[in-house]
Amino acid sequence: MADLILPGLVDVHTHLRVPGGEHKEDFATGTAAALASGITAILAMPNTSPPLTTPQRMQETRKVAAEQIYIDVGLFAGASPEYLDDLAACAPYAVALKIYLNDTFGPLRVDDLPTLEACFQRWPAGKLIAMHAEGQSVAVGIGLAAAYDRPVHFCHISRREEIELIAAAKGRGLPVTCEVTPHHLFLTEDDVSQLGPLGDMRPTLANKQDVEALWAHIDDTIDCIATDHAPHTLAEKNSAKPPPGVPGLESSLPLMLTAVHQGRLDIERLVDLMVTNPRDIFDLPDQSDTMVEVDADASYRISADILRTKCGWTPFAGQAVYGRVKRVILRGIVVYEEGQLLASPGSGRLLPPTSNDSQQLMIIGNDSKSSEETSYGT
Ligand code: NCD
Ligand code: ZN
Repeated sequence: MADLILPGLVDVHTHLRVPGGEHKEDFATGTAAALASGITAILAMPNTSPPLTTPQRMQETRKVAAEQIYIDVGLFAGASPEYLDDLAACAPYAVALKIYLNDTFGPLRVDDLPTLEACFQRWPAGKLIAMHAEGQSVAVGIGLAAAYDRPVHFCHISRREEIELIAAAKGRGLPVTCEVTPHHLFLTEDDVSQLGPLGDMRPTLANKQDVEALWAHIDDTIDCIATDHAPHTLAEKNSAKPPPGVPGLESSLPLMLTAVHQGRLDIERLVDLMVTNPRDIFDLPDQSDTMVEVDADASYRISADILRTKCGWTPFAGQAVYGRVKRVILRGIVVYEEGQLLASPGSGRLLPPTSNDSQQLMIIGNDSKSSEETSYGT
């Protein structure tokens, strides 16, 4: 494949840990890690400490982000039974609502029908609802999408029966979409014995049949590749009660390019999964004059040594991959080149822009024409 020029990648599922978990990751380190990996827009999850459940917290977090981000960042609002009255007011500051139907890291959880229905009634119709739903919770999410006739996006789908249920729902024309993580595509439960707590995340790693089912649906049912970058420190992961979650921003593109190299998907599909569909599903603005130059034939082993994520480790250490990001251009400016970060903190934009960020609105108004020059081949 030699050199490739890709559009800026979009990761719709990242944990940046602000506020309250800045020792694991912050807006500067997380967006630097993303940028060096060809990702120019990310959507950050609300299971922070405290979680993003009120407009005040969302505004405060956007303020911190505005000073630190190297790429474009949107925040999810988090659904919680205690803060239902704040839901609608969060929407202007959020790209989407996240509802956690199953247990994972952090306190956010909604597992009763009245609260779920209230979320669907109160969250503005024009904005997406994303769900952490495992097992039969996927059926609950599909039922709500059908009953309320509004799109639902399923995060990190990992099991055969889940992807098959989503395929069936799509077959009936229901407005559902889903993402899959690279770790659920490239690791199985058999890797847990070697990885120990570094192989623990939610959903947990699945069996070989599940992984095969995901790959079998890569060209139709799966809409996005999302990292679920969930950094925790090594000390936390090696503690008596390790939190679930693994980092993934910096391994995502090389793993997916390796799959292209192996003939498991083609490069056009990779762009659908990592750029076009994420943008369409979350209704994100185009980034004009933005591109990622990749040496697609560079082969190497993933190593923790060169990571920019604050947590400093990866479950993929030692994995042989293809594809290295050489250069990233964001809105016409070279922001990363040959290992050097050339952007300044705060040069990324917040998504969506709000009337409070009037300066941003003006800038976006000036150059919102999308570039048609981006090409995928050499
Ligand atoms: C995530 C985290 O650490 O915030 N952990 C995980 O195992 N995926 C939470 C989540 O996305 O479920
Ligand atoms: Zn997550």
